Amino acid sequence: MSLPPNPRQQLRALIRQRRKQLTPNQQQLAATQLVQQVLALPLIQQKQHIALYLANDGELDPYPLMQALWQQGKQLYLPVLHPFNAGYLLFVHYTPDTLLYPNRFGIPEPLPECHRVLPLRQLELIFTPLVAFDQAGNRLGMGGGFYDRTLAQLPKDSTCEVIGLAHSCQQVEAVPTEAWDIPLKQIITPEHMFEF
Ligand SMILES: Nc1ncnc2c1ncn2[C@@H]1O[C@H](COP(=O)(O)OP(=O)(O)OP(=O)(O)O)[C@@H](O)[C@H]1O
Ligand SMILES: [Mg+2]
Repeated sequence: MSLPPNPRQQLRALIRQRRKQLTPNQQQLAATQLVQQVLALPLIQQKQHIALYLANDGELDPYPLMQALWQQGKQLYLPVLHPFNAGYLLFVHYTPDTLLYPNRFGIPEPLPECHRVLPLRQLELIFTPLVAFDQAGNRLGMGGGFYDRTLAQLPKDSTCEVIGLAHSCQQVEAVPTEAWDIPLKQIITPEHMFEF
């Protein structure tokens, strides 16, 4: 007996395929445009501890942005699969010299050494990857629930901002949501800054 198609899985597959069709030139241009978009944000001046990610699966590449932020003296962090708390992320300090090792999804990550892990409540800004987003700020990720679980742990009075990064081709009419999905208040594409 086959299961009925799940609209979230279908949308995820469609957008992942679309995203993977971007050429290296398009990816490079998008990554460069992202730097301008983010550096023009007034809030970036006030944020020192910032989480980003390493691009995978055709995601918008924040590496040129990271280089610009390092130049400004910002402290950057990468998500690492929590070694004991399955389904959660830790954020580990990342510098140009940090050694990276592939995790079980093949995504490079730093070692979760205690002295390099920043408690979630001390992060001031988190840039998340995503697969699809809509005009209400709903976010569909890769399907692991890692960001949903981790962001749900931010304290109620947290001033940490969470901003999604995506290519324009990842915008859809409506993302089918579930109760646990954490919507975003801000999403940045190479061309636009969306606020919801
Ligand atoms: N706060 C949470 N507590 C427990 N389980 C959760 C939580 N958030 C999500 N999950 C579980 O994670 C699974 C995947 O969720 P979902 O499809 O929303 O992932 P996603 O948003 O695409 O991934 P990600 O958050 O990693 O980008 C679901 O089965 C869901 O039950
Ligand atoms: Mg989700």
